[in-house]
Formats: sequence, structure tokens, C-alpha cells
Amino acid sequence: MNLKEKLQEFTTQKRGLLATNFYNLETLHGVLQAAANVGEPIILQLTQSSIDYMGLDTAVKLGRAGLKQFGVEGWIHLDHGGSVALVQRCLDAGFDSVMIDGSELPFEENIKITREVVEKAKSYGAHVEAELGFVAKLGQEHGQQGFTQPGEAKEFVEATGVDALAIAIGTAHGFYKEEPNLDIELLSKISKSTAATLVLHGSSGVPHQQVQEAISNGICKINLATEIKNIFMNTLKERLATNEEIDLRKLFPIATQAITQLVSEKLEMVKNV
Ligand code: 13P
Ligand code: ZN
Ligand code: NA
Repeated sequence: MNLKEKLQEFTTQKRGLLATNFYNLETLHGVLQAAANVGEPIILQLTQSSIDYMGLDTAVKLGRAGLKQFGVEGWIHLDHGGSVALVQRCLDAGFDSVMIDGSELPFEENIKITREVVEKAKSYGAHVEAELGFVAKLGQEHGQQGFTQPGEAKEFVEATGVDALAIAIGTAHGFYKEEPNLDIELLSKISKSTAATLVLHGSSGVPHQQVQEAISNGICKINLATEIKNIFMNTLKERLATNEEIDLRKLFPIATQAITQLVSEKLEMVKNV
């Protein structure tokens, strides 16, 4: 099933589809083992940094081969694409889905760049996500000013023909200083104003009950990144502090397994709302 169909099916069923970022073989396998164990599909996301780190073709082939190896239904997605040129490279490399993030551009320019990407993606049959409103990037301050407005969401989706829309309803990338408080009422209004798939960015650090409430009220794609990096590195650090082992193949699996445990819990969260 293509991603658009899957997201529509899940939206109707009020189920979440988890989208996790991967950075190397170990983080990829940790995520895929969880999806295989729980029996859920998954979106594998790559940011520009991860693409630069692994190399574009290597990253796509790793993701694709991993899905096959673990017998998981999944799709490869460009997360926070910053330019049409990057989107083009990813489409040529065989991505199933691309995000163009024009959220920091003025409304009309965001529409323009998103429409351009939607046009490009058509001949590839690729799925397109855009962002409207301000979900703070790592290190940025976030307040309530940038929340997505339902009327603008409707106008944006109609003007661009985009498949999925990342919205700002109170999440931020990375961990939170204080517990976040998602604006579910606003979400509900946005959901009624547009048929586009709604995407929740910044899920790390959001209490599970709030994520589930968001899913019940129209969110379908749930993006998770920071908690994966965090548990991998912290597990490794702890182990390295007390272990002289230099064979990374003996050390890495414990961090990979920690990701599997984490992502299994997240998959149960989005599955049983
Ligand atoms: P977190 O890092 O807060 O999980 O956000 C992930 C994300 O939105 C990726 O696009
Ligand atoms: Zn994001
Ligand atoms: Na977050």
C-alpha cells in the first residue's frame, strides 16, 4: 500500500502511524526490530544531516534493505527538507515521501515552494508533507504565537494540494523544560477544516496520553527523533563507563535493544488509542 493510502486508512481508524528518524545501522535496526515485534508499519525518516552523514544512496539502500530484512511494511521519508534541490535529490534516490519545510517563510512563499514540490513529486508518485505554523527547532524558543490557524490550514492545503501537513499545536523539537500542553481544541478545528493528513512533530517528551488525545482528534503521523538518539547514546555511555570491551559488535547491541524497547512502547501507544 502506498503511504498516502495507509495514512488515510489510519486516519479513518483513528490510529497513529509512527515516523522515526534513523542515523546509522544500529538505530535503524533498533526501530525495525520494534516494528517487527509489534507488527506495525513504520515511516523511516532521514534529515539532511543524516543524509550528509551516511550518504544519500547508502541511507536509502540501508533503509530499504532493513525493511526487507525485518519483514516490516514501511516508507522512506525526507524529514524537514530545506530546499527544492534536496527534495529533487531525494526523489531521484527513490524516497517514498518528502517534506518541504517552508514554515519559516511568509505564508505566500511557503505556499509557492510547497506547490513546486507537489508538482515535482507527482511524476514520482511520491507523498508530500509541508509545515504550517511554527514548531520550534532544536534550541529555538517556542511560544504560542506560531500556532497553526484552521482557516490558514484550509487555504494552504487547497492552494498547494499537499498530502500531509505538520501543524503547530504546542509541541517543540527535542525535550521540554516544562511538560507540554497540546491545544487539542485547536487541533480539532484544524482537523475539521482540512482533509490533509495531520502530522505531529516534536513528539519526544510529550506524555503518551497527550499523544493519544491528539490521535483521537485528528493527528495521524507521529514524528519521533530525540528520544531515540538519547536512549542510544545514554545506554552506550553507561556501558562504556564500566566496560573495557572494544568490539563494537558486542557493545552496540545493548543500545540497539534499548531503542527496540522504547519504540515498541511508542508503537503500542499509537496503536491502542
Ligand atoms: P523530537 O525530536 O522532539 O522527537 O521531534 C522529532 C521530529 O519532529 C522530526 O521531524
Ligand atoms: Zn520535526
Ligand atoms: Na519534542
